[in-house]
Amino acid sequence: MSLPPLPRLGFIGAGRLARCLALGFCAAGYSVTAVASRTPASAGRLASQIPNCAALDDPQEVVDSADLVFLAVPDDAIGTSAHTLRFSPDEAHGKALVHCSGASPVELLAPARDQGAAIGGFHPLFLFGGERNDLERIAGCSVTIEADGALKDTLTALAVALRCHPLSIPPGGRMLYHGAAHYAASFALCSLAECVELWRTLGFAEDEALRALLPMLAGTIETARDKGLANALAGPVSRGDTGVVQKQLALFESLGGDHAALYGLLSRRAVGLAQRRATPPAAIDAIAEAVEESLARSLNQAAAGASGK
Ligand SMILES: NC(=O)c1ccc[n+]([C@@H]2O[C@H](COP(=O)([O-])OP(=O)(O)OC[C@H]3O[C@@H](n4cnc5c(N)ncnc54)[C@H](OP(=O)(O)O)[C@@H]3O)[C@@H](O)[C@H]2O)c1
Repeated sequence: MSLPPLPRLGFIGAGRLARCLALGFCAAGYSVTAVASRTPASAGRLASQIPNCAALDDPQEVVDSADLVFLAVPDDAIGTSAHTLRFSPDEAHGKALVHCSGASPVELLAPARDQGAAIGGFHPLFLFGGERNDLERIAGCSVTIEADGALKDTLTALAVALRCHPLSIPPGGRMLYHGAAHYAASFALCSLAECVELWRTLGFAEDEALRALLPMLAGTIETARDKGLANALAGPVSRGDTGVVQKQLALFESLGGDHAALYGLLSRRAVGLAQRRATPPAAIDAIAEAVEESLARSLNQAAAGASGK
């Protein structure tokens, strides 16, 4: 026995992610049969928006009444919740337990696998706001899937049902995958925050700075989408303006703190991108040398600062 082609879906946890997934799967024609959560009212609120969906007090009843259960609880609760769930030997081979974390290993669900159920990961690369418009906003995003066999096919179909792109990840790759993805989300904000902090010394307020920066960021993203990363690179590294790069590195070094280290490390990545172009700037080797010399100074200084020397 394996998962049916249109499995009955259940949710344990009724938070931001569960609300979007449960409503999205229901809209796509899947049967969402049961929801349980820590707070019964949360489960009740979600179940009341889905036809023929029961709000249940006990997560075990979700396992008993669905074929595929999404364990949509905070990461710290995934392992402990998985340990409490029982899969009857007669039915376990037709059931699956899946979590939605990008960072936590699928292996946290091993107790279900040991009882005969399939286990997997289904991580939407999307920041859920918890509102109904998530259902529209999630279209076009990617969902990273870690599963084998029939469960992989089922999760792929579920990603497509949300109008998302399925992305497959090998076992054990989640921590790197999730950590690296910060560069396209929180760390993009950290780059903006660094600029806002530096511009503050020029008298710009944060809202003024963001009004100036966000359209430029949006344009950069559009260009990257159209032309790829290397060809979207702009600024002095991409133009081969060695003099400007040297002056900016020196300026950031003079500011102290870790401003020059951050600037130097990102400049090193910019050099890497410029080198990937069909025709890299003629001065790219001189720029790379200037960046590495500055980095050697600023990283030494940062290390000395950290050790209190
Ligand atoms: N939010 C995102 O943008 C996002 C994106 C991708 C993946 N994820 C992943 O999705 C999962 C859920 O995240 P979320 O953002 O939806 O979290 P959330 O909004 O905090 O919701 C978590 C839900 O789980 C319930 N819950 C907490 N502990 C529980 C337990 N021990 N047993 C049963 N239910 C419990 C909560 O309780 P109440 O019943 O009290 O409400 C709440 O309904 C996480 O693994 C997260 O990494 C989240």
